[in-house]
Amino acid sequence: MAIQWYPGHMTKARRMIAESMPSQDVIIEVLDARMPQASENPVVAELRGQKPCVKVLNKSDLADPAVTKAWLRHLEAEHPAPGDASREASPGGKVLAIALSATQSSEARRRIPELCKRLAPPKTGPGKVVRAMIVGIPNVGKSTIINTLMERKVAKVGDEPAVTKSQQLVTLKSGMAISDNPGILWPKIDDEAASFRLAVGGAIPDTAIDYQSVALFAAGYFLRRYPELLVARYKLKDLPETAAALIEEIGRRRGCLRGGGAVDLHKASDILVHDFRAGRLGRISLEEPPGLEEPSGIEESA
Ligand code: G4P
Repeated sequence: MAIQWYPGHMTKARRMIAESMPSQDVIIEVLDARMPQASENPVVAELRGQKPCVKVLNKSDLADPAVTKAWLRHLEAEHPAPGDASREASPGGKVLAIALSATQSSEARRRIPELCKRLAPPKTGPGKVVRAMIVGIPNVGKSTIINTLMERKVAKVGDEPAVTKSQQLVTLKSGMAISDNPGILWPKIDDEAASFRLAVGGAIPDTAIDYQSVALFAAGYFLRRYPELLVARYKLKDLPETAAALIEEIGRRRGCLRGGGAVDLHKASDILVHDFRAGRLGRISLEEPPGLEEPSGIEESA
């Protein structure tokens, strides 16, 4: 898939994160629970070095709960918990992973500071707070988490890095301090399957990609992995055999027709992708940790 999108301010955003790094105690890396690997940017591990990190698998309300559990087990195996003397420590700083939903604010407000404090180096003296920086790719929920932790409603951060904005450090009731601007990194787009997943989830702008190929990728994956959710959502009598046939069928059922009765494939693709993004298909994960096999047998296109 050709991606005609490459943000010009990537270097600045990276520099901003690198400059803020020395003053942080903990890094909060926000990932999309539906695709924890595709939404991870290896630059975070590179920049944080030995700083401890809380990996937040956000939007877990939209993800397949069994797959999210498998991801947490996988991350736990990769990064033994601090204090677990029976397991070999992984390279880099200590890591703890949690799955949550920033839109369910009370849980996020309680658990994120709790984990940051567990990971932060011990501090002494009155008024010492744990400083944490929130980083992640666009659309994973960084601003929602900041708003939740700060118990306030601020404007959506959007996809522009806050390179020109001044950062305000806010001390939370929990005794933690976070900046009101997250560190934004762009997803790595060198792996084709990961690019498709990011595009389906909305982390890559729709204008940057061939939208219908993205929908075909999603349709193929949903047919293989979540056929029952497709049957329920689109009231299908029979499961289409190919991704292209599924999109046509969605178009027919939703009246997306052009003159002459041909299905408007762009509109039908839009319905499928937006139903996924809004969670209207049900709880779906786009990616499984290594070791969990995906069923096969359905082609992605006709
Ligand atoms: P970002 O700063 O990382 O770019 O992400 P942001 O917080 O703006 O969140 C991107 C979208 O994801 C927002 O929806 C937000 O409401 C939604 N979101 C964030 N966390 C969660 C979560 O845990 N669960 C669910 N279901 N959605 C979440 P939007 O439609 O772009 O904006 P809005 O209309 O909700 O304001």
